[in-house]
Amino acid sequence: VFLKQWDSQVRPFIEMIDYLRHIGIERELALPSIAVVGDQSSGKSSVLEALSGVGLPRGSGIVTRCPLELKLRKIHAGAKWTAVISYQDVQETFTNPAQVESYVRKAQNVLAGDGVGICDELISLEITSPDVCDLTLIDLPGITRVPVKGQPEDIGDQIRRLILKFIEKKETINLVVVPCNVDIATTEALRMAQGVDPQGTRTLAILTKPDLVDKGAEADILQIMQGKAVPLKKGYIIVRCRGQSDINENLSLAEATRLEMEFFRNHSHFSYLLEEQKVTTKCLANRLTKELVEHIKASMPSLTEQIQIRLSAVRIELRNYGQGPPLEHDKMGPYLSKRILEFSDQISEICRTGGQGNLY
Ligand code: GDP
Ligand code: NA
Ligand code: MG
Repeated sequence: VFLKQWDSQVRPFIEMIDYLRHIGIERELALPSIAVVGDQSSGKSSVLEALSGVGLPRGSGIVTRCPLELKLRKIHAGAKWTAVISYQDVQETFTNPAQVESYVRKAQNVLAGDGVGICDELISLEITSPDVCDLTLIDLPGITRVPVKGQPEDIGDQIRRLILKFIEKKETINLVVVPCNVDIATTEALRMAQGVDPQGTRTLAILTKPDLVDKGAEADILQIMQGKAVPLKKGYIIVRCRGQSDINENLSLAEATRLEMEFFRNHSHFSYLLEEQKVTTKCLANRLTKELVEHIKASMPSLTEQIQIRLSAVRIELRNYGQGPPLEHDKMGPYLSKRILEFSDQISEICRTGGQGNLY
């Protein structure tokens, strides 16, 4: 959707982050990504789906039961759509976009069991396609309060802990998803996001399901948009995604995007928000582009610092090993006999002191 802007402004930053990921630096450092948080069925997966163009498991009840890291990788035009799903020691490749849902469901069943349980373990889904943007998105289980049949008593706490693990990282942009038809002031996801980001520098709120706003309640939504209910530094964006009936009728994502634009254009209360760039998935995508670049820029000093700390630790460790073996073949013999003599001296020393001396 926002490839043009993306190519000129974002690509250099994303490529750098991609490169860091590629050399495996993520095991050591946290790299910028985007996480979605919200109540169960607030529309998190739908928003991710609209942003990524990738069909995800969604519906009523608990559908997302493990964190799903969606790594979108853009490839040259004409190349084939490919996905690699990894979890535990499983790694599978497939080439049909329609299979995403079933592969993710299968992975969740392996990690979190067949029922309604959740699991901390990450499912990673890397999609390479000419039609995506380089973006890493994380779908998380929704917040629940009351356990359903088969869920442990403390399911709510388990989910909150899991969500916190992701949203507390200062490298993560938090998208808080709230349906238009609930009371935003009491939304727990928003409170959690504010808890980990009190300045609101990396929290963006998304209002979903604008088609389900009660007649007469539109003015309340406009008040929220103006920050009168819960003021947020980065503000709010309204998106309209596919509802259950759209899905039942196999409405494509592309068609849904077109209908979304039409919905806002014709809306008696919300249409003016189009001009203010506060509605539609396309606008959300643009906004995220901007936020992500700013965020990566802002993360640079901390990334550099983390790298420097690691580097000096490695240097200290390296110093402990002294000089390594010579590269030249003919110097190897003298080098080895020198090391063996040193070692034998150390053994004699241990025998003499009864192990009190320091073996380095
Ligand atoms: P999640 O549990 O937060 O991931 O929510 P889902 O994305 O699974 O969505 C829950 C339900 O809300 C699904 O049936 C969606 O089709 C529906 N839904 C999502 N967005 C909208 C919307 O903008 N309008 C309507 N009417 N339904 C939506
Ligand atoms: Na759901
Ligand atoms: Mg979901």
